Amino acid sequence: MIGIVLGTRPEIIKMSPVIRECARRNLDYFVLHTGQHYSYEMDRLFFEELDLPEPHHNLDVGSGTHAEQTARIMTGVEKVLAKEAPDVILVQGDTNTVVAGALAASKLHTRVGHIEAGLRSFNRWMPEEINRILTDHMSDYLFAPTEKARENLLKEGIDDKKICVTGNTVVDAIYQNLDISRKKVNVLKNLDLKPKEYFLVTAHRQENVDNRARLKDIISGLESIQQEFSMPVIFPVHPRTARRIDEFGIGHDGIQLTKPFGFLEFLQLEAQARIVLTDSGGVQEEACVLGVPCATMRYDTERPETIDVGSNILVGTESARILEGVRSAATWENCWKNPYGDGIAGKMIVLVCAAARSG
Ligand code: UD1
Ligand code: UDP
Repeated sequence: MIGIVLGTRPEIIKMSPVIRECARRNLDYFVLHTGQHYSYEMDRLFFEELDLPEPHHNLDVGSGTHAEQTARIMTGVEKVLAKEAPDVILVQGDTNTVVAGALAASKLHTRVGHIEAGLRSFNRWMPEEINRILTDHMSDYLFAPTEKARENLLKEGIDDKKICVTGNTVVDAIYQNLDISRKKVNVLKNLDLKPKEYFLVTAHRQENVDNRARLKDIISGLESIQQEFSMPVIFPVHPRTARRIDEFGIGHDGIQLTKPFGFLEFLQLEAQARIVLTDSGGVQEEACVLGVPCATMRYDTERPETIDVGSNILVGTESARILEGVRSAATWENCWKNPYGDGIAGKMIVLVCAAARSG
């Protein structure tokens, strides 16, 4: 039996190809939702629009400090694994759900498969960097999206035999949903936007939005972009960021703040944007795969492949640098090659797990 552990928006999206593949092959599997994300537009919406089965278990852990959240997830995961006794569990990415799920499982001697293994920003101030490193070192199967990620793992002494380069399941998710998105939603029309004549923004990194000066600088950078290019700036706001904008009392002249979108709508907005500005991991990858320039409002990235192929530029969080980076990205020709694979990562991962199960 395969246990799929997830808990946040990006995990639901990037695990969806794996869940679909398990269902298609009629495998014995279960989905354990930790409940790290729980607001409708960060959670249920994705199960509904991606037509995913109801999670078999939901721990409802909710929000809290890192230690509180991680501890609640571990305790809950341990109980479910003791009952279900899976042969292997799968975790994806770098959230608290991932590190806590992997730690609880490895203490029960349940094998762990880490999807998106080997990513490194080399910045240990990011809570996600700690989660990635720990999870990789606890895992039995490391599904690295690229050769670069594999090399990072080898440099840390991880056995090559445990590593399988699969591509990133985000490509599967994009390929599986882009057509459905075109048929089912028309978000540009709803927002009165013209293709390639607007900017799309997301920001939610703890180190960016929990810091008043940084968040203010980011938003003032967005305001200057809106003024210089005279194009709408659409900013679907993550709940963490919404709370901070409110609490810090930060104004946002000319920026259209909206609720988070579903994946089908967001994919459409990304594909037609002039430039995407973000501090998200998944959004850097998606913009690259969709052929849209990305300006990343950070000083480092665990997705260097996007910089190497020329789809992404690090612009930091100072308003003048953000504007400068966008001016530069506006001149790119957008003809890079997607470094994240052919959209068969989900199939490869499930094949490895199915073989492990019978082996
Ligand atoms: C988490 C992950 C981050 C990931 C992001 C994806 C960790 C350490 N962080 O960050 O790596 O990029 O998810 O979006 O695991 N909140 C709600 N509703 C929700 C979820 C959160 O209102 O459904 C609010 C709460 O005020 C909460 C805050 O957002 O305190 C932060 O949530 P949390 O899950 O702790 O971290 P994220 O910023 O979402
Ligand atoms: N996303 C979405 N709606 C939004 C913003 C983002 O569906 O309004 C999707 C996006 O397409 C990507 C994922 O959320 O697949 C990225 O999640 P997030 O930025 O929260 O986390 P990260 O990737 O940084 O861990």
